[in-house]
Amino acid sequence: MTKIKVGVLGATGSVGQRFVQLLDGHPWFELESLFASERSAGKKYRDVSKWFLPSEMPAEAAEMVVQSLNDVDTSENEDIAIMFSALPGSVASEVEKRCAQAGYCVASNVSVHRMEPDVPLIIPEINADHLALIEVQKEKRGWDGFIITNPNCSTIVMALSLKPLMRYGIKEVRVSTMQAVSGAGYAGVPSMAILDNVIPFIESEEDKMESEPLKILGTVEKEGSGIKNAAFNVCASCHRVPVMDGHTEAIWVKFKEGVTEEEAKKAFKDFTTDIKTPFAPEKPIILREEQDRPQPRLDRDAGRGMSVSVGRVRAGRMENEVKYIAQGHNTVRGAAGASILNAEVLVARKYV
Ligand SMILES: NC(=O)c1ccc[n+]([C@@H]2O[C@H](COP(=O)([O-])OP(=O)(O)OC[C@H]3O[C@@H](n4cnc5c(N)ncnc54)[C@H](OP(=O)(O)O)[C@@H]3O)[C@@H](O)[C@H]2O)c1
Repeated sequence: MTKIKVGVLGATGSVGQRFVQLLDGHPWFELESLFASERSAGKKYRDVSKWFLPSEMPAEAAEMVVQSLNDVDTSENEDIAIMFSALPGSVASEVEKRCAQAGYCVASNVSVHRMEPDVPLIIPEINADHLALIEVQKEKRGWDGFIITNPNCSTIVMALSLKPLMRYGIKEVRVSTMQAVSGAGYAGVPSMAILDNVIPFIESEEDKMESEPLKILGTVEKEGSGIKNAAFNVCASCHRVPVMDGHTEAIWVKFKEGVTEEEAKKAFKDFTTDIKTPFAPEKPIILREEQDRPQPRLDRDAGRGMSVSVGRVRAGRMENEVKYIAQGHNTVRGAAGASILNAEVLVARKYV
């Protein structure tokens, strides 16, 4: 198959660099253009991306000249079909809309459009049917292209783990996160603040964790007009910890009726999906039976960073409650890998 040309907005950031790394050698996609701020525009990628592991920088990307966001819709970039976005929210809204208007499919990591009623918020193993919103969006906004989004990094880990439990009737979810520093971006949290420390506040994170899962686990309303949210509440407390990559989450799920530890474990173990594209992990959820798992250093790269590990599944003290730990790679499963998987599903289902 002829490879589909793709671009990356915010290519020099924490997530942008992960995109460049993961797109290297991708069987369907070919990296055509890299975009970042005026600080980086006009310079070679290797000179402006603070690559975590220099030996891992793809050679072709290293020599590419970074473009300004002003150039996204110029004729030089007209062969691009998919634009991946890893921009800060403050600049993403206008640029992503401009890209969709120009005919690109925008696969975005950014939160700004996630909760708009006609924008799909996708974890393909859960809700690929929500892609039906694309036609509604294009018609409503008069765009040739469209925007699809993936959730916040912590939301992805939790929502994937909740999906197999949905059949038992979830009444309420509580979650306490231990989130890696890479989740705050390259400039992120100052080292003097995070070393030997835990920071019990992450701007806007709790709102995202409490709202996004309900849209993702919701159902498409008739004729694809919108999403009916899942009918339970999520209560989140989010914390930054001195871990490089990999978010860990303690989750308490209260069910309408009793669910045993064994039933919950079986639900995790048996979870499969029909998503079979290159980035789809063989097992979206891996059940860890060891009593001290999952851990970020041991488990974040499971399924090439695309599997979520679940462990310490046990009955809670409250009525009808099961509690467990979920862990996933925040810049792979929770960001760049999630967008790439979404884009693959768009291709497989002929939206691109
Ligand atoms: N990190 C994660 O785990 C994670 C997970 C899910 C979602 N996200 C979301 O993904 C997005 C990117 O996050 P990040 O952690 O990668 O951030 P980051 O490391 O700060 O990178 C930001 C990127 O945007 C570019 N940029 C910044 N200001 C710009 C401007 N005014 N005009 C044009 N480009 C500009 C930067 O280019 P320069 O290098 O030229 O400044 C850089 O390429 C955010 O919206 C974030 O919420 C992040």
